[in-house]
Amino acid sequence: MVNTDRQTLVSTNSPRAYQLRTLLPNYNTERPEQILLSKMGIGYLYLDEYLIFREMNRCAERFLGVTAKTLLDRQWFVICNLRPMDRNNLRALYDFFEDLQVEKQMEIKWTVKGCDRYLLFKSVPLECESKNDFYVTIEDITVPKMLEENIKHMDRLSHLGLIASNTAHDLKNAFTCFKGFLQMEKENESGSKPEQWHHYLEFIQNSLEKFSSFAKVEQQNSLEIIHPQKTLQDTVRFLQGHASNKGIHLHFEDRNRDIPPVVANELELRHVIMNLCINAMEASKQEGEVIVELDYDSERGNVAIHVKDEGCGIPKVNLSRIFDLYYTTKQNGTGVGLYNCRKLIDSFHGTISVESSATGTIFTIFLPAKKAHFF
Ligand SMILES: Nc1ncnc2c1ncn2[C@@H]1O[C@H](COP(=O)(O)OP(=O)(O)O)[C@@H](O)[C@H]1O
Ligand SMILES: [Mg+2]
Repeated sequence: MVNTDRQTLVSTNSPRAYQLRTLLPNYNTERPEQILLSKMGIGYLYLDEYLIFREMNRCAERFLGVTAKTLLDRQWFVICNLRPMDRNNLRALYDFFEDLQVEKQMEIKWTVKGCDRYLLFKSVPLECESKNDFYVTIEDITVPKMLEENIKHMDRLSHLGLIASNTAHDLKNAFTCFKGFLQMEKENESGSKPEQWHHYLEFIQNSLEKFSSFAKVEQQNSLEIIHPQKTLQDTVRFLQGHASNKGIHLHFEDRNRDIPPVVANELELRHVIMNLCINAMEASKQEGEVIVELDYDSERGNVAIHVKDEGCGIPKVNLSRIFDLYYTTKQNGTGVGLYNCRKLIDSFHGTISVESSATGTIFTIFLPAKKAHFF
């Protein structure tokens, strides 16, 4: 029986209560160590060998939103019936109380008077006590938990911002080039090439899909074996219309007849080359030349792609920052283009570097060549 008159937090009918009664005159009020833990903001529960609650402190009452009367002299599982609980929480409580001899902890969401709290239960085996004593402490971790949740939320928001600006950047580029491409097709009356349309519509679709399922944004396109000549040729051809609108001479040069394939993602490699060419064109004056060059370094086993321009160049002090996210020197720039290029080239296990002077800039991409397998 619990002595409610004296607001006791110690059961009166356990063997331990008997012990205490003989030792301490006021055993059945809150004991000094219980008070101390309460003052430290730590809830305390003591269970006997039958896993019956025998003691608790005020703090535990407050955290659990119950009075000692509800718990004391009852088996541990009464705690599962204190609050409506979902299966996960219930499972966690069962797992926790199953073996209190082991030091362990459990976080649980606990609703008191309509307020959600996060409680941390810890089992504290004390070597000095008998094996049949079980101690559990409870801490209120709502504030750190909320902070953690807030940080996660803010991360998500900034992630969303990043994807939004990525998408805006990609779509702007894709549409500008697509417009130029259509115009050129019309002028040359060469008839439209469905596969060219297809690539860029696919690119736009891809950007939009990434945006709409931003939870899955970290998912990358799969790697495949691709032939860089074709990819570069197609991309340059696609950009021709945009280049001639700007009065820039854009062309593709193949420096080696035997370029081996590489492992990359076709759409993403196009995306990288497109970004580099657009930057090069933005830096160039009318009549300027932009060259996309493809070469193979057989000694190192690398396929090299150079994007060269005769534009304004990048001042030395800025060189180390151009791949940084949101770094831009343009009024309408987003600063995500080169950041993305580097991320994509990294994912192909390649490298991207830059050299620049007042007479122009060269971006160089190295991609490991796919070695031929002989059986
Ligand atoms: N070919 C280039 N010539 C000169 N500056 C360049 C070139 N490519 C990139 N940059 C510089 O790098 C910055 C970052 O480029 P990028 O990430 O593509 O973002 P954005 O094009 O939106 O500014 C540009 O603002 C520009 O200052
Ligand atoms: Mg750019």
